[in-house]
Formats: sequence, C-alpha cells, structure tokens
Amino acid sequence: MVYDVVVIGAGAAGLMCAAQAGYAGRRVLVLDHANKAGKKILMSGGGRCNFTNLGTTPQHFYSENPHFCISALKRYRPEHFVELVDRHGVEYVEKAPGQLFCATSAKEIVRVLWTECEWAGVEITLNTQIKTVTRQGDAMRLMTSMGSIDAGIVVVASGGLSIPTMGATGFGYELARQFGLDVLPTRPGLVPFALSDFWKERSAALSGLSLPVAVSCAGRRFVEPMLFTHRGLSGPSMLQISSVWQPGSSIEIDTLPGEDAAASLREARQTTPKRQLSTWLGERFPKRFAQALLEWYPDANQAAPLAQYSNDEVDQWAYRLNQWQLKPAGTEGWRTAEVTMGGVNTDAISSKSFEVKDVPQLRFIGEVLDVTGELGGYNFQWAWASGVACGQAC
Ligand code: FDA
Repeated sequence: MVYDVVVIGAGAAGLMCAAQAGYAGRRVLVLDHANKAGKKILMSGGGRCNFTNLGTTPQHFYSENPHFCISALKRYRPEHFVELVDRHGVEYVEKAPGQLFCATSAKEIVRVLWTECEWAGVEITLNTQIKTVTRQGDAMRLMTSMGSIDAGIVVVASGGLSIPTMGATGFGYELARQFGLDVLPTRPGLVPFALSDFWKERSAALSGLSLPVAVSCAGRRFVEPMLFTHRGLSGPSMLQISSVWQPGSSIEIDTLPGEDAAASLREARQTTPKRQLSTWLGERFPKRFAQALLEWYPDANQAAPLAQYSNDEVDQWAYRLNQWQLKPAGTEGWRTAEVTMGGVNTDAISSKSFEVKDVPQLRFIGEVLDVTGELGGYNFQWAWASGVACGQAC
C-alpha cells in the first residue's frame, strides 16, 4: 500500500491534520492501535470537551522553546475552530470566560473530525499495531499488523503518556529517539496532588469540599477553586499548579484570596472584641472547613474572645490562612494526569510545517511535542493548530 501521508494517531491532532492533508489532495491514511478514534476527546472536559479557549495566547503554554508555538497558534485561532463546529451544527456553552464546551457531549467533536476526514477522503484504520518506521530513500516504510505501508510523509500524532488505559504510549518518543531527536524529560501535568498520611487524613475528611483559593509555586499563581479529595487536593487551581510543581517542593495556598487576613483580624479585634475566632472563620468559609481549621490548629485560647489575641497570634492565623505551606507527597501520576509535560524537543522541528529539519518526511504534532497548555481548552487548541499547520504543509 502506498500513501502520500500516513498519520499515526487518530486523536485530536492526527484527525485534524489528516483532514487538512486530504483536502489538499493527498492520499491519507490514519492508523491507530486503539479500537476507537478520539478516546481522549471523548473523556475530556467531563465528557463535554473544553474544545478551545477564546483567550488563547502563546503565554498559556509551557515549552523549553516558548516561541515555537506562536506561528501555528497565530495561523489557526480559536475562532477558526468555532467556525468549524458552527458549520457542523455543534451547540456549545462558555462555561468560564473563554472556555467553550460542547452543550451535550464530546462525541460531537469526534463526529466533526470524523466527518471532515470522510469529506476529505481520508482512510482511518483502527486496531493496528505499528511495529517499525524506517526511512527508505526519500520515503518512509511502516511495518504494521496489517502489513507493510509506504508513505511519502509520516506524521506522528501519538500524544503523550497520560491515561495509559486510554491507549497512551511512549511510541512517539521512541520514534523520535530512533531518528536522533532529543526528548525532554516527561512528567505528568494537570494532575491532582497526593498528600502524606497527616494531610491525607485531613483532606479525606473534607472530601468533596471546594474552596476558592489562590495557589502559588515556582513563580506562578492561579486563582481558581481547590477540591479536597480522598487522596489529596484537586480542582482547577491544583491541576494548574501541578504543571510547574517539582517533587519535594512546597506549594503556597491562600485560602482567602483578595483578603489580608491579618488586617481583617486586627480590625475585628478592634471593632468586635467579644467575637470568637470560630465566628470570624464561619463568616468566611464553609462550616466544614472552618471547623476543620480549628481542629487542625488547636490553640489554647480558641474559645477566648478576639480581644485576647496577641499580635503574634493574629499573625500566625493570618499566615495559616493566606500562606498555607504544603508539601505534596506526589501527584496521582499518569493514571489521572490530563497532559504530559516535556516531550519531543522542538529545536529540531520546523514551527511552520512541523517537519523534522533533517528528515522532512517525518513530522510531529500535538501533545507528543514539548508544548503543553494550561487548563482551559488550550491543549486542544494546540492539537488543532499544529494539526492544521502540518496537514496544509504535507
Ligand atoms: P491524543 O492523545 O488525543 O491522541 C493520540 C492518539 O494516538 C490516540 O488515539 C492513541 O490511541 C494513539 N496512539 C498512541 N500510541 C500509539 C501507538 N503506539 N500506535 C498507534 N496509535 C497510537 N484538553 C483540552 O484542551 N480541554 C479539555 O477539556 C481536556 N480535558 C482532558 C481530560 C482528560 C481526562 C485528559 C486525559 C486530557 C484532557 N485534555 C483536555 C488534554 C487533551 O486531551 C490532549 O492534550 C489532546 O488529546 C492531545 O491531542 P493529541 O492528538 O496530541 O493526542
């Protein structure tokens, strides 16, 4: 079998790329070892797929080379994908500012991509193992479970390592190494934290409770909800900060973002001296959390009126509330991570065509590359943008 383009991976980037190459008149085959296309799309956004973010800028991405993503993101913008889903009659909602989700189901996005591939004459073959990929002069040869396939161009869109049960493999990284490319160390991103025994028990007791917080680590700060879980901490703020957190380091949680707890407590001590700390906490936090705080920090004078609190005690409480220092034991790992940090070093890749500079027959797109978005639809926007740029250049 001979194709102009073989795309490895029927995920977000692969299907988008295949459709574009098909529309450009190429004979295109998409191969995937999974039994379904777009499995991650289907499970994304709680089953509703946060398919883009209207506020996408290169600043929302992590990469050793922050300039690499600029060209593709500029050429294929969120409005272009919105125009595509509009054309296919997909209804969507803006759940948070800029974050667009399907109104009904993520299946709608897979339907759009599948239909586009069909219209573009793309062949999609699932349940196929790829054994080897080698260069044969100016072309590429794939040995697969369905036989040998020759292709002018091979596009690697095999994604990252998160959720191995959904078909994630290190295939793309191994292939990159085989062709002499550098692969930057990978680690789970957008992933919940696991806590140690002491904090794990406390978190488990509050499981299901969500609080608005600001979390900081490694020079980044996110103001979004935090969720207590049986294993530790999750919710948008924790997922976001997990992408910059390094094992062994601490995160700082401000449970009263926008309020200077020291100033507020001093004022309360002045204006309502008979009030107890529990009342003050109860005005700011859900009851379960206010009670938990009093249990976590059993100071001797908890039952005393605020008037009896010294400046040091006020400052200590303010520190606990505005600058809670917490050292996570780890993360939940690949099992629940939404994305892979690191990946194929972009230094050897063209940011326009996504071809490997020394091997133009080989291309890498999507999450397999060292480009990872923050939470909020940016990762799919990267998959679409890199897929379109590569597909049009095939
Ligand atoms: P993707 O992982 O989509 O596709 C890779 C394909 O390659 C898969 O079909 C896989 O089976 C195939 N493959 C892998 N190894 C292979 C091999 N050896 N041989 C053949 N085929 C192989 N992002 C976002 O923007 N908004 C959101 O709402 C979410 N939500 C979300 C939830 C959860 C639970 C997860 C895990 C992830 C998200 N994401 C997200 C991230 C988003 O899903 C991710 O960034 C994109 O799917 C990446 O697209 P790719 O096409 O690069 O890889």
